[in-house]
Amino acid sequence: MKSFKRYLITSALPYANGPVHIGHLAGVYIPSDIFTRYLRAKGVEVISVCGSDEHGVPITIKARQENKSPQEVVDKYHNIIKDSFEKFGIAFDIYSRTTSKVHYQTASEFFKKLYDKGIFIEKYTEQYYDEEVGQFLADRYIMGTCPHCGNDRAYGDQCEKCGTSLSPTDLKEPRSMLSGSKPVLKSTKHWFLPLDRFQPELGKWILQDHKEWKVNVYGQCKSWLDLGLQPRAVSRDLDWGVPVPVKGAEGKVLYVWFDAPIGYISATKELTPDWEKYWKDPETRLIHFIGKDNIVFHCIVFPAMLKAEGSYILPDNVPANEFLNLEGEKISTSRNWAVWLHEYLEEFPGKQDVLRYVLTANMPETKDNDFTWKDFQTRNNSELVAILGNFVNRAMVLTQKYFDSKIPAVAELDEYDRETLSQIPQIKSAIERNLDEFRFREALKEAMNLARLGNKYLADTEPWKVYKNNPERVGTILNIAMQITANLGILFEPFLSFTASKIKKMVNLPQNKWELAGGIHLLPVGHVINTPELLFEKIEDEVVAQQLEKLRRTKEANEKASVAVTPQKESVSYDDFARMDIRVARVLEAERVPKTQKLLKLKIDTGIDIRTIVSGIAEFFAPEDMVGRQVVVLANLEPRVIRGIESKGMILMAEDSDGKLQLVNPAAPVANGSTVK
Ligand code: MF3
Ligand code: ZN
Repeated sequence: MKSFKRYLITSALPYANGPVHIGHLAGVYIPSDIFTRYLRAKGVEVISVCGSDEHGVPITIKARQENKSPQEVVDKYHNIIKDSFEKFGIAFDIYSRTTSKVHYQTASEFFKKLYDKGIFIEKYTEQYYDEEVGQFLADRYIMGTCPHCGNDRAYGDQCEKCGTSLSPTDLKEPRSMLSGSKPVLKSTKHWFLPLDRFQPELGKWILQDHKEWKVNVYGQCKSWLDLGLQPRAVSRDLDWGVPVPVKGAEGKVLYVWFDAPIGYISATKELTPDWEKYWKDPETRLIHFIGKDNIVFHCIVFPAMLKAEGSYILPDNVPANEFLNLEGEKISTSRNWAVWLHEYLEEFPGKQDVLRYVLTANMPETKDNDFTWKDFQTRNNSELVAILGNFVNRAMVLTQKYFDSKIPAVAELDEYDRETLSQIPQIKSAIERNLDEFRFREALKEAMNLARLGNKYLADTEPWKVYKNNPERVGTILNIAMQITANLGILFEPFLSFTASKIKKMVNLPQNKWELAGGIHLLPVGHVINTPELLFEKIEDEVVAQQLEKLRRTKEANEKASVAVTPQKESVSYDDFARMDIRVARVLEAERVPKTQKLLKLKIDTGIDIRTIVSGIAEFFAPEDMVGRQVVVLANLEPRVIRGIESKGMILMAEDSDGKLQLVNPAAPVANGSTVK
């Protein structure tokens, strides 16, 4: 491999429209953190940059749902995400955000440079427009009937029922989610990045020069390239994002996938005035850590942008991971099927390394993988507690007990001692070899093998039985055990940094240097160690049961909510509304209508008269529930005869997606006959 002077590590900028979960951690942030910590430990010049991705349509949708501004939404989630990363020890040099001033400027200038170089194609396309609101509609803002399965709640980009990806014009009976009105096609101008022009260069760069990329990444790139690259629009009609910085582009912003990767550059600028050496010097090795859904953007689109600009380096590797599932099902933010980091931190205080361990051991490196709470418990109890924790504790406690916390001298080494010691540098090399090639699971397994080696060594040599007759021999054994412990403190730092710090503190490590690891004299004879503390504790069955119960309730709630909220109806004029006589009335009498399941006959005082209304609410309200209650009625509904009874008006009810009814009434009592408007 080419040798590099320094590293620039980026991690996919998470969307600030929700908190982060274990899938994000296992797929992107743990691998990038392990890799960065490894380089730092080796003394390599490296920076790691990340931040929140704060533009894009989903954020505007979330804002509408929560009745907030997009800025309020991203402020909220940016802080939650940043805090979770910090608490999990994900040690970015900077965690920025794409609503920062520097980013707006950087992204704008980047676009302008490409624009001035004449890179873009300007094209008019037909797009749906909501005439009532006076706005072009993002694909996600259009709903209609899926041409494949008939689902009448399909979105303009996808039908979530049958999974087909759609374009808005595929929808039958499209309607705008902003107003409910029927959108019209209208012409609009956009700027396209001509990826096809970069096809030959990109093709060679990936397929010939980067055969070492992970097979999942290389394969996806190859199939994109084989299909033939097409121009892609890099602008959108939207009022949230970085404005397109050219004349005649009012109301248009940069497409989120154009501005977000530039966020890596902006973050570097915010971190250091020396940012150009990281982005423009060919002796920098740029590595993007991402999930598999981001591959095309990082391996094709962003490199094309960088090439078009002309002064930037390209990534040397993009070790993308596959997806992590939860208890056999796809993690889903909208269905709340996830283990959220901010919740884990509250429910498992101080156990960040347990999750980091389990997620690294199950990292979806070459295929999708599954997280289960049972496996979480098993790995904690039979690996962290029983092997790593147990070994370190035994070595520490025995040294304290027999040698007054001083590292004992080595008397004489036997064959088994030599064999054991010889494995330490071998394990270190194996860890390095795996980390260098982004095989994090294997690397962790090797680190664990060192603890396993120590554990087995103590179990086989049984110093507690030997001490009485041969204290010198025990000195040798514990010297070896303590050298292994010190090595664990260094070698676990990239993986489990909290635990590694504890170990280093306990053994009072004189020099914390990666290059010393593998050595067998890290702790000199007579060196004093600190008091042992337990590294891990057992996780009980109840804890697992609680988490599974939590997931079961999520599922139950999802099933109930699966009948989604009814979409907005077509607009009505104010006059239409004003023609309805809606007023508050009080129920005087109530009785069931004989031989029916659903009907109650109610006598009500409307303030203008006493009248009878028949209402289909008997499944939810007993007659005695209703008597004396205030209700809201539509008084001027045409009278109807129901089961031989004349009903004059209708009682208004709130109905959820299951058809369950709730009374609607004034928050405090008002005079009967008060109007509702
Ligand atoms: N926000 C995107 C996602 O979560 C990732 C953006 S990565 C960047 O899928 F390169 F665009 F920043
Ligand atoms: Zn469908």
